[in-house]
Parts: sequence; C-alpha cells; structure tokens
Amino acid sequence: MPTVLITGAGRGIGLEFTRQYAAQGWQVLACARDSDKAELKVIAGQVSRHRLDVTGPASVAALARELDGVAIDVLINNAGIYGQPKGSGGFGDIDYAMWEQTIRVNVFGPMRVAEALLPLVERGDRKVMAFISSRMGSIAENPGGAYVYRSSKTMLNGVVKGLAGDLKSKGIIAVAFHPGWVRTDMGGASATLSTEQSVTGLRNVILGLTPADSGRFLNHDGTAIPW
Ligand SMILES: NC(=O)c1ccc[n+]([C@@H]2O[C@H](COP(=O)([O-])OP(=O)(O)OC[C@H]3O[C@@H](n4cnc5c(N)ncnc54)[C@H](OP(=O)(O)O)[C@@H]3O)[C@@H](O)[C@H]2O)c1
Repeated sequence: MPTVLITGAGRGIGLEFTRQYAAQGWQVLACARDSDKAELKVIAGQVSRHRLDVTGPASVAALARELDGVAIDVLINNAGIYGQPKGSGGFGDIDYAMWEQTIRVNVFGPMRVAEALLPLVERGDRKVMAFISSRMGSIAENPGGAYVYRSSKTMLNGVVKGLAGDLKSKGIIAVAFHPGWVRTDMGGASATLSTEQSVTGLRNVILGLTPADSGRFLNHDGTAIPW
C-alpha cells in the first residue's frame, strides 16, 4: 500500500486526511506538534505518529532522520495558521510580529519539510508533493484585506511553482491546493464544506495527478484557480 505523510495531522483537515487514508489502507505518517493527541491515537489502521513543528529546523531535521530509508508516495504539507484573528488585519491594522510568524509557518514550514523529505518522496512511486494553500492567496482574486494570511499563501504559491520547475527532472509533482471553505477551527462553523467533503475531493484529485499537473493551483474538485 502507498505511504502518505501529513503535517498538521492533529486536527481539522489534516486529521481528516489521516482518517481517510488510514481507512483506505494506506500507511500514514501522521505528523503533529502534539503527536500523542487522543484523536490520532484512536484512528485504526497503519498510522504512525511523529512529532513535528514545521517552524523548527531541528524538529524537521529530526523527522527526516527518524524516517530515513522510508519511501513517501504523497507528501501533504497541510499545517498552517491564519495569523491575525478574522475581521482584523486590514490596511492600517497589521500585526507585523504575527505576519512574520505566519510566514514562518505557512511558507518556511512547507519549504523546509519539502527540502528535508525530498529524498523520501523521490523514493516513492507517485512522487507527489501537495501543498494546502488557499484561494485567498490568489492575486487574481484578491479584493483587499487579510494581508497576513493572503500574502503568506501567495508566497507559498510562488514557492510551489518554483518547486515544480526545480524538481521536474526528478519526476516530482508539486501542486498547490485550495481545500474549499471548510468547517474547522480555522474555517469556522459557517463554512460550506465538512472536512469529509473537502478531503474526499482532495484525495480524488491527488490520486489522478500526472506530471502535467505539476505547478498548478487546483481547487478541491480539481478545477484550476487563477494565480
Ligand atoms: N478551513 C478552511 O476553510 C481553509 C481554507 C483554505 C485553506 N485552508 C488551509 O488548510 C490547512 C489546514 O487548515 P485547517 O482548516 O485544518 O486549520 P486548523 O483546524 O486551524 O488546523 C491547523 C493545523 O495546522 C497545525 N499547525 C499550526 N502551526 C503548526 C506548526 N508550527 N507546526 C506544525 N503544525 C502546525 C495545527 O496543529 P496544532 O493543533 O498543534 O496547532 C493544526 O493541525 C491550512 O494550511 C489552511 O491555511 C483552510
């Protein structure tokens, strides 16, 4: 069975990825800051839990050492933060310290994980690096506001596009995804999609990816989103 590694696996979309891949019989490497979370421990199937703070160089390096020799078919860089509370963070209301932290988590984190785990993904059969970005990072669709979160995801999208070019010769497929507006701690209770709906869609799209999709920005239903 294939192997998937998921960051931010302890709650929200990451936890649902863990549940669904485990239910499909995949080997799941579930990475979380608190890898002892009860929600992760109760998931049946081939799930191994790993401690990972994506902002910590030592934490990422320790994970790479721990997994040395493993082949990863699909790497899902899911961990992320919104930064400033919803409704704040507009023009004239920027928390610069929080902006820096958001970029550390949403941009440096996935890049660092991708760099550290590249040899493991190269060893996998599918060679997919999926990055959970957000439609809010689209420059084409940006109406203003939410500078902290939007700019971090725009930056992540730029990184994904670069990786697609740099890693093409290694057969790696790097894709940025919008999961939809999802009912999680981040998405809130009014969001339109359940985690089950979002992740079912994302898994289907990930399953059908080909090298021609590398460097694309895709919705949870597989449709393209303008950069
Ligand atoms: N929900 C939506 O509507 C929506 C829409 C567009 C994009 N997204 C994106 O989807 C992804 C998942 O979001 P979600 O809705 O599931 O949010 P969530 O419920 O707030 O979960 C965020 C996850 O990221 C983890 N995380 C945060 N900082 C971390 C760090 N430094 N190291 C490792 N893990 C860290 C959290 O772990 P802890 O439990 O340790 O904090 C948690 O597992 C994010 O990248 C988000 O930007 C979500």
